[in-house]
Amino acid sequence: MFRRIYLDNSATTPVDREVLDAMIPFLTEKFGNASSIHFFGQEARAAVDKARHQVAEIINARPAEIVFTSGGTEANNLAIRGLIEANEKYGKHIITSAIEHSAVRNVCEDLEKRGFEVTYLPVGEDGIVKIEDVKNTIREDTILISIMTANNEIGTIQAVEEIGKTVRAERENGKKIWFHTDAVQAVGKIPVDVEEIGCDLLSMSAHKLYAPKGVGALYVRRGVRLHAQNFGGHQERERRGGTESVPHIVAFGKACELAQKNLSETARHLKNLRL
Ligand SMILES: Cc1ncc(COP(=O)(O)O)c(C=O)c1O
Repeated sequence: MFRRIYLDNSATTPVDREVLDAMIPFLTEKFGNASSIHFFGQEARAAVDKARHQVAEIINARPAEIVFTSGGTEANNLAIRGLIEANEKYGKHIITSAIEHSAVRNVCEDLEKRGFEVTYLPVGEDGIVKIEDVKNTIREDTILISIMTANNEIGTIQAVEEIGKTVRAERENGKKIWFHTDAVQAVGKIPVDVEEIGCDLLSMSAHKLYAPKGVGALYVRRGVRLHAQNFGGHQERERRGGTESVPHIVAFGKACELAQKNLSETARHLKNLRL
């Protein structure tokens, strides 16, 4: 009997049953707007707060540092555009890699049309950006380094902790420079710790870890100035206007909780699958 087998979990994953069960009440009886001050609103707000804790925990962040978005693409746009718009006076040079997902690459290409200069660092045969190349490319006017944690096609894991150390050392010398990493393919598969990486901004997407499409988050280190890209209400501490999609956010939180619980097993399983 012919049976199809899905082998593309880096593109997307099905929704976990437990995740679905967690979100359903927020589509039906618990339908409140998290900005409403009455009971229904407070119920929704409490659910968003709980999810914010769950998402923060999987990357060792503080809940207040999590900005919910519509997914990894929006998180990358908010990180890169938001950071450079808020800090443009410090420089117009961005460093990224030649193997970023289009949600980073196309943002950078668009910024080039607006007068920013972007360096696309190559990777070696091992698929990794050389830390020496990163160090040698930093200029007086470099304000942002955006290098992914794990690649979506070849699975290579970049030396993000080394990059984080480099950026911190530059900052200790008084330079205005920040580090963003697209960790969409890493969260829930390998340990991701924003303190160990030393990044300022980190993108996540829920549909890579058994939650629905259309929700993600950007980690924004406390104190990092970011210019909002979505103007509207005061949601997400003025960093992303728009009524929160409570069912999606609840699902994302639950998926993070489950992914964290299963992390060592998942990491071991993935390692065994490698040739
Ligand atoms: C590395 C990486 N970044 C960003 C994205 C975009 O995330 P989303 O589909 O949530 O917009 C993806 C999705 O494939 C990805 O693999």
